Amino acid sequence: MTSRRWWFLSAVLVLLIGVTAWFVRPDRAELARAGQARAGQARAGQDEAGPPMGWNSWNRFGCDIDEQLIRGQADALVASGMRDAGYTYVVVDDCWMADERDAGGRLQADPGTFPSGMKALGDHIHAQGLKFGIYSSAGSRTCEGRPASRDHEEVDARTFAEWGVDFLKYDYCESKAGDRPTGLPARDRYRKMGEALRASGRPIVLSVVEWGDEKPWEWAHDAGGTMWRTTRDIKPNWPNITGILDQQVGLERYARPGGWNDPDMLQVGNGLNEDENQFHMTTWCLLNAPLMAGNDLTAMDRITSGALLNRALLDVQRDFGGGQGRRLRDDGDTEVWVKGMSDGSVAVALLNRGDEAASVTAAASEVGLPAAGSYRVLDLWNGEQPTTPGPLGGDVAAHGVMALRVWPLR
Ligand code: GLA
Repeated sequence: MTSRRWWFLSAVLVLLIGVTAWFVRPDRAELARAGQARAGQARAGQDEAGPPMGWNSWNRFGCDIDEQLIRGQADALVASGMRDAGYTYVVVDDCWMADERDAGGRLQADPGTFPSGMKALGDHIHAQGLKFGIYSSAGSRTCEGRPASRDHEEVDARTFAEWGVDFLKYDYCESKAGDRPTGLPARDRYRKMGEALRASGRPIVLSVVEWGDEKPWEWAHDAGGTMWRTTRDIKPNWPNITGILDQQVGLERYARPGGWNDPDMLQVGNGLNEDENQFHMTTWCLLNAPLMAGNDLTAMDRITSGALLNRALLDVQRDFGGGQGRRLRDDGDTEVWVKGMSDGSVAVALLNRGDEAASVTAAASEVGLPAAGSYRVLDLWNGEQPTTPGPLGGDVAAHGVMALRVWPLR
């Protein structure tokens, strides 16, 4: 081959390689999207259809727990149909851990109450198609005085990952001296655990339980949290439930898919009457709140299971629809709450906080529905489906609610 031909062929080859490389190069936007997807994957629970749902031991059993009880509740979650309705996390709250860390500095299960260990419990939970949640605190001790994760974040996150933990409820006891945080401020404590969980290599949902004192809605998502408590502990009584609801007003702008305001776990089935159960369940669903049942699942009456398994209402809780529900009107004992749904319908809760039945009404135009000749209504508690030219609502029982989903008709 003459050297001129050789040069010519080489030039053509280089040109061909260049053109091919240009066409097969990864697109910048695609790279950015892939990067975002990876970042998204790093936050467990974000890819789920809505706020985390499951069962937690605290509200009903407190410290009085053991592995048999947790296994029994996991089994009941499946048998009751709750798992299939979306309640997938089984969260073991405070008191699962032994009084001391092991020789290697790791948290260990209380040998008296969890003799098979946490890995075995997690295996049982996973075998049921459920996810395993555990509890610790950002302080040196839990609220019940057991060892907690402050300054042990990395080793604890690694231990949880080894046990197959999918969800960490991370409390704030023993983090303060009086009113002031000791050492790091709350946001840095939670970030430390958020980073340790990410570094563990296992996707673990971080549930921030700082009780709302330091406005976690402003920083918890950034610290790695998927949900953050907005209040002190929920109790199974009427003034407490309505008080917590009042504290949610104005927080709606902080909720987003993968980052949820948490008005605390459910007290459905723990002593509220039927109307109060419906009120509690409805408002939590309108708030797109995480739903952690807190009752004894092995002994549910019809009212309790009916409330927890109200699929039409769960559809509201699963649908962010552009925004968490909000209070539209406060008329003293009666209130109107609304939430836009992604199909263009609106969920409306007409609340009666008073001790006597009351009429609570709103107009379709007022709740954000477009003008229409008539509206299709679905009553989310009794399944009735009336049509209305505009007025919504009616008589609502004391401590009760009327929950509606409303679609405009042409
Ligand atoms: C705090 C939390 C509760 C529960 C207890 C356990 O009070 O807010 O939800 O986890 O600790 O001790």
